[in-house]
Amino acid sequence: MSVIRAFIAVDLPGDLQKRLDQVSDALRKRIERSVVRWVPATNLHLTLKFLGDVSVTNLNLLKEVLIAVASEHRRFEFGVGGLGAFPTLRRPRVIWVGIEAPVELSNIQTSLENRLARLGYAPEDRPFSAHLTLGRVARTADPQDVLIISQSLLSSKIGYLGSVQVHEIHLYRSDLDSGGAEYTRLYSASLGEKSS
Ligand code: 2AM
Repeated sequence: MSVIRAFIAVDLPGDLQKRLDQVSDALRKRIERSVVRWVPATNLHLTLKFLGDVSVTNLNLLKEVLIAVASEHRRFEFGVGGLGAFPTLRRPRVIWVGIEAPVELSNIQTSLENRLARLGYAPEDRPFSAHLTLGRVARTADPQDVLIISQSLLSSKIGYLGSVQVHEIHLYRSDLDSGGAEYTRLYSASLGEKSS
């Protein structure tokens, strides 16, 4: 059975990807160690649901879920800014930029979770926490590396970077190799029009 790695996401406009890349660049210079795997600008996105391994025979069902959920929710806008880390800024593993979104975003994510759970895709154990991942700290990072990263993050001030108009959600395929991840858009579905 052929499987692919897949996820559902919201795209970011190119100019915002560039601004986020500049933030990564500034952090990279401050950290000066290759213990963070930075996400290339064109791969920056907002993940709504990571599906993991998906049988290609299920792709049509996933497309139907994407279309159904998108049609039930309206277009919205979210703001981007501020720096954070999972699990905490003092113990950074995932470095991210924050999102200020209206309730539509978590409503869409909940609808996806519910419909996908019915197809057998496990719901997340943790509550949805919308973020834009800039980089991931390597497992090989030693405590001194982590301290330097943490101090760099704590002393960096990242203000408002821009806003995103969300008109569509997308199903992506992810192919991993030693050079990183390559994302390919498989299907897109349009959200409903805003009511006037
Ligand atoms: P995140 O970086 O926003 O957390 C594609 O791999 C996307 O799926 C990633 O950008 C990542 O989103 C998300 N994702 C969530 N859980 C994942 C996991 N266990 N492995 C890989 N990606 C995951």
